Amino acid sequence: MSIFNQMSDSSKDEGRHLSQDIHTNGFIQNPYSAYASMHEAGGRVFWEDYGFWCFANFDEVNALLRDRRFGREVPEGVRGGDRSHLQWFDRVERHSLLELEAPAHTRLRKAVNRAFVSSSIERLKPEIERLSNALIDRFESDESVDLLPAYATPIPLRVIAALLGVPEELERPMLDWSHAMVRMYTLTATRDEELAADAACRDFHAALSELTAHKRRHPAADLLSDLAGSELTDDELISTAVLLMNAGHEATVHQTGNAVFTLLSKADDAHTLLSTPEGAAAAIEEALRIEAPLHLFTRYAKEHVDFGDGVSVAKGGQIGLLLGAANRDPKAFTAPDAFLPGRSDQKNVTFGAGIHFCIGAPLARMEMAISVATLFKRLPKLALNDQPRFADTFHFHGLETLTINPQG
Ligand code: HEM
Repeated sequence: MSIFNQMSDSSKDEGRHLSQDIHTNGFIQNPYSAYASMHEAGGRVFWEDYGFWCFANFDEVNALLRDRRFGREVPEGVRGGDRSHLQWFDRVERHSLLELEAPAHTRLRKAVNRAFVSSSIERLKPEIERLSNALIDRFESDESVDLLPAYATPIPLRVIAALLGVPEELERPMLDWSHAMVRMYTLTATRDEELAADAACRDFHAALSELTAHKRRHPAADLLSDLAGSELTDDELISTAVLLMNAGHEATVHQTGNAVFTLLSKADDAHTLLSTPEGAAAAIEEALRIEAPLHLFTRYAKEHVDFGDGVSVAKGGQIGLLLGAANRDPKAFTAPDAFLPGRSDQKNVTFGAGIHFCIGAPLARMEMAISVATLFKRLPKLALNDQPRFADTFHFHGLETLTINPQG
């Protein structure tokens, strides 16, 4: 909890204080009933366990993501305590565009932006289709397969690695380093998790330094070669590559699982829906709204902000933006809990908004539309083997396993 967080005025906070342990099974499996209570309380709640005000209304979350009075950059003095065991982690984070504000953010984002616009990623379509089919070939006659490792993970991992120019043999170690690093985003990382994240950053840094040196000697048609020839410093380049490798697969893996599970459990006729590109795009978009993989992002106030109604945050204090709750705001959506692909009020904040809006959104949408549609096309009898459970990781709302029978 930040020392800057402003406690609320208790006289005005009746019903707006929330004590909710994110590790309780009921919350993990269904956070939406807690979000519904937040909406009933007006959409602003002081979440005691985090120690800051959280926002759950769609319009307010959308506006706060764009509000320049707030930023992601950690204010001076907030990260107190001895961080000598986190030297590598801090070194990689220091130049991560996700953690920076303008002008440093603008410069780094510009260096990679072109590689992720729709016209650049279109050319990846055939490779995503080929990869999806090759993976299905491997398990289509099995009786039981966990789609997360067998299908949802390798597609975005291979795609982002190929885009950057990372060779296949580095994918596995990079996956492990990425998993160790994202434990830091739980807001409750243990000392052992911190040490593991730091070691992962050290090894990630070393592998990418070596690879970048190779790209400088032998440039290829990939993003790492482009960045190696750009004006970015070595540390900026490595931080950017680490962020892209990690962000390029983690959320997409979980969301591919969430989308397949949503379609199998909530769609009337998923096969027909997914049989056209328009239907597949609508299904993916509605799954992104109703079962987003990232539910909470925080921001620091750059100045004292008074929201009125007894809610304020001091300069340097934190607020929480509940993307998963905003996507189910009853004031913003008709039947917010219903899966209605193509709904007239389709919108979501799943990829954020404002200057940090997800640079990989077009890529993630394209990957999921192709991989999920191919799966249902190839396996017309596809069925769930067990009722899947969401994993105890609030920073990623994703399934523990997604075991299906390809033959129904
Ligand atoms: C379903 C998949 C994905 C979801 C839900 C997702 C979600 C998000 C969100 C919510 C943010 C903004 C965070 C904030 O405002 O604090 C973000 C930023 C980012 N995402 Fe994604 N993402 C996904 C896939 C990808 C992919 C495939 C890439 C590949 C490059 C990627 C790269 C990034 C980067 C680099 C940023 C930082 C942008 C900046 O700070 O300017 N993401 N993502």
